[in-house]
Amino acid sequence: MPLVQMKDMLRHAHAHRYAAGAFDLVSLDFLEGILAAAERCRAPVILSLAESHFANFDFELLMPAVEAAARRAAVPVAIHLDHGANLKSAVSAINRGCSGVMVDASDRPFDENLRLTREVVAMAHACGVPVEGELGYVPGVEGEDAERHPGEIAYTTVEQARTYVEETGVDFLAVSIGTVHGLMRGEPKLDYLRLQQINEALGIPLVIHGGTGLSDDQFRHLIANGVAKINYYTALADAAGSSIRENVGENPNGGYTSLVQGVRNAVAEEVERCIRLGGSAGRADEVLAECAPWLPIEHLIVYNVLGLDTAGVQAMMTEGRRALGAIPGVRQVITGEAVKADAEYRYTWLVRFCHTAVIDSYRDHPAHVAFADQRFRPVAGNRLTIDYQEIEAGIQNQRGKA
Ligand code: 13P
Repeated sequence: MPLVQMKDMLRHAHAHRYAAGAFDLVSLDFLEGILAAAERCRAPVILSLAESHFANFDFELLMPAVEAAARRAAVPVAIHLDHGANLKSAVSAINRGCSGVMVDASDRPFDENLRLTREVVAMAHACGVPVEGELGYVPGVEGEDAERHPGEIAYTTVEQARTYVEETGVDFLAVSIGTVHGLMRGEPKLDYLRLQQINEALGIPLVIHGGTGLSDDQFRHLIANGVAKINYYTALADAAGSSIRENVGENPNGGYTSLVQGVRNAVAEEVERCIRLGGSAGRADEVLAECAPWLPIEHLIVYNVLGLDTAGVQAMMTEGRRALGAIPGVRQVITGEAVKADAEYRYTWLVRFCHTAVIDSYRDHPAHVAFADQRFRPVAGNRLTIDYQEIEAGIQNQRGKA
């Protein structure tokens, strides 16, 4: 249940001057460690999946576990695509369950970044999903981080930030003010004046990439100047790596499970430290009470067919599953046939939308219009349609906010 709208979550953090932690996860151990820490701290948390890590796990396979873990968590959770490359990545992430997406075209020329971000915002907002854009460039400095984020730092300018946010409509902006991905040698020097000016000019939640290695004092200054989300990964990977090396030291012939034992706790400890620094500890109840829940909509049709034989109906269903399943915001398309021969309606479509916004954007989407007008409506005059939301204990009184 505690999946909440990410836009509300970050608005709450921005208004109350704390930063939600967005932790990149690369395995089930990371997932469990992050949520265990968030629950221990009673903190809202963002489960982040970075496209730059997709070589390390199967995104499609991992997402159902991420969603299941988020639903059974005792704290409010959002699921976010980190460093999404383009429109296709954003659609795929939303259809697989992300409730927020980042489009990262920060390595492109300004106009191209604008164009790509605008495209993603139009699609994502039609699905009720908020978007994080990035302006300026946050590089990686060592090892894997340098490979994933090559190049030199480019600072965000206030003027460009204003134009970018106005013209793209992004909900959150990742800024470059001196942080880097990964651990920097020496203490990073952060440009707080620049951050303060960006915050005053924009008034939207700001995001910092490169949380690893920042001091307590730096966390405080970032948050005081509008940062509402801090991305964190390398320190978690390092903690996991140390735990494995320790196990190897103690048990050089150990098998897989004995070597990874301890990873979950190592990740949880580091996440807890970061949550406490960001000030989100103890905020879970407020966020749950004040943020709309993130709930799917079921678009259910029951119908009878005239003028098609069984093979024709099956062909229509196959085509519909493919065409409708590719529409942004469609989580799943299930087709069915009544079990009893005397059922009032013979067939069903159950189309799962990620959000209420998809009721309209799906109806008007060219792929739906074409399929409905040419293939479905001509043979299914006798039908009932309902869009409904699951009624689940504990969320009814929040329903009005969805
Ligand atoms: P670190 O690896 O420096 O913590 O940064 C993570 C990040 O910004 C992911 O987007």
